[in-house]
Order: sequence, then structure tokens, then C-alpha cells
Amino acid sequence: MTAPLIELRDVTRRYDDGPPALRELSLTVRPGESVAILGPSGSGKSTLLNLIAGLDRPSTGTVTVDGVAVDKLGEAASARYRRARIGLVFQFFNLLDDLTVADNVMLPAQLAGMARAAAQRRATELLTVLGVDRHAAAYPGRLSGGERQRVAVARALMNRPALLLADEPTGALDTAAGVEVQRLLTELHADGQTIVLVTHDLALAENCATRTVQLRDGRVAADTTAPVR
Ligand SMILES: Nc1ncnc2c1ncn2[C@@H]1O[C@H](COP(=O)(O)OP(=O)(O)O)[C@@H](O)[C@H]1O
Ligand SMILES: [Mg+2]
Repeated sequence: MTAPLIELRDVTRRYDDGPPALRELSLTVRPGESVAILGPSGSGKSTLLNLIAGLDRPSTGTVTVDGVAVDKLGEAASARYRRARIGLVFQFFNLLDDLTVADNVMLPAQLAGMARAAAQRRATELLTVLGVDRHAAAYPGRLSGGERQRVAVARALMNRPALLLADEPTGALDTAAGVEVQRLLTELHADGQTIVLVTHDLALAENCATRTVQLRDGRVAADTTAPVR
């Protein structure tokens, strides 16, 4: 068996008040898997994603991603870890409105020290593959929700991340745009991209994930690998 890309061991995340967001949760994800995290609101889905991304720390337990002990990283190392290994896609795109589409997509590469010309080439290539190259010089505010999410996916892929993380990527889109993003994630997975996505959208989970993990009250309530279609 291949080494896991993600390994959470006995992870608990406690806040000051209320029950723990995650309770002694263990989860292993292997390279090339596409995993959908499902569960009711408040079940700990975003907390789980944030721990994998190094945006949050467990109270107890360990988080290892691509050989990196993510739970032990300081702030600067955590930012470097995300830049080098993680692509992040959020419900509300999180694009910078005063940068053009092309500059938004190039930003992670430039922060990682890639020369501008090389970053420009890769951004153009990604925007073309994602079908939004004609908007390269536009500002994100001029684009539809579906187009903005494609740009956000292009930005997430800029540094060739080992892992693509998406939190409700179709949550703010109309049905047609949601289906486009779904198709896009399915294609990325077919090309070998490891994906973990959090969603309420059952169609999205069924169509682009090969495995679904159901959370309930901060625990794994079910973990199902889809039959091969
Ligand atoms: N920053 C925070 N401070 C206190 N409680 C939080 C914080 N973030 C999340 N929680 C709590 O942790 C639980 C899980 O939240 P979350 O991971 O956002 O769930 P989901 O994404 O499944 O809706 C919820 O009860 C939520 O209120
Ligand atoms: Mg959430």
C-alpha cells in the first residue's frame, strides 16, 4: 500500500465553551483519493479541513500531511507549508478584488519565488484549461460566481499542490455553475489530483468523490468507498 498523504491520529479540537468540535478522530487519506466530507452543520467539517490546512491546531492528537507534522508548525512554517503543498478553495472564492484575474492566479507562485514570466505562463495555461482565459485581464468583480470559482481553482493549482482542499466549493453557486465546478473537480481527480472536499451537496459528493466520510458530533459516523463505476 502507498504511504498515506493525510494521517490524523486521535485528533480532538476543543474550544473554550461547548462540546469539542472534533473528538478523537482518526482518518487516513491516500494519494489519488477524492474524499467528500459530509455531515450536518456544526459536525466539525470545517474544523477538520482547517486542521489539515494548518490553519488551526488540534488540542490533542497529530496531523501529518505529505510527511509534514502539520500540528507542530509555527505560523511562518505553516504558511510555507500551505504555499508549497496545499491548494485551498472556499465557498466565497476569496479572490483579491483589486488584482486582475491573472494576478490573483499568479500570486501564490510569486510568493513562492517563481519568476514573473514563468508564473505568467503557468497562469495562462491554467486559465485556458479551466475555460476562463478570456477574463485574464479583468477584475474578479466582473465575473459570474461560476467563473470566479474557476479562477479560485486555478489559483489553488498554481503551485502544483499535493492536496486540493475545498470547503463548500459549490455552496454559493447556482445549479449550472455548481455542475461546472463539479465536472472540473472530477476531471482533476481523474488526472490524479488528491482532493478533500467538504460539502452539503450530495450530487457533488456522489459525482466527484470516490469516498465519503460522514461526520456527526465531531466523530466519523460512516466511511464509505464508492463502488467502481
Ligand atoms: N472559532 C470557534 N470558536 C468556538 N467554537 C467554534 C469555533 N469554530 C467552530 N466552533 C464550533 O465547533 C463546532 C464545529 O464547527 P465547524 O467545524 O465549523 O462545523 P461545520 O463546518 O460542520 O458546520 C460547532 O459547534 C461550532 O460552533
Ligand atoms: Mg463549515
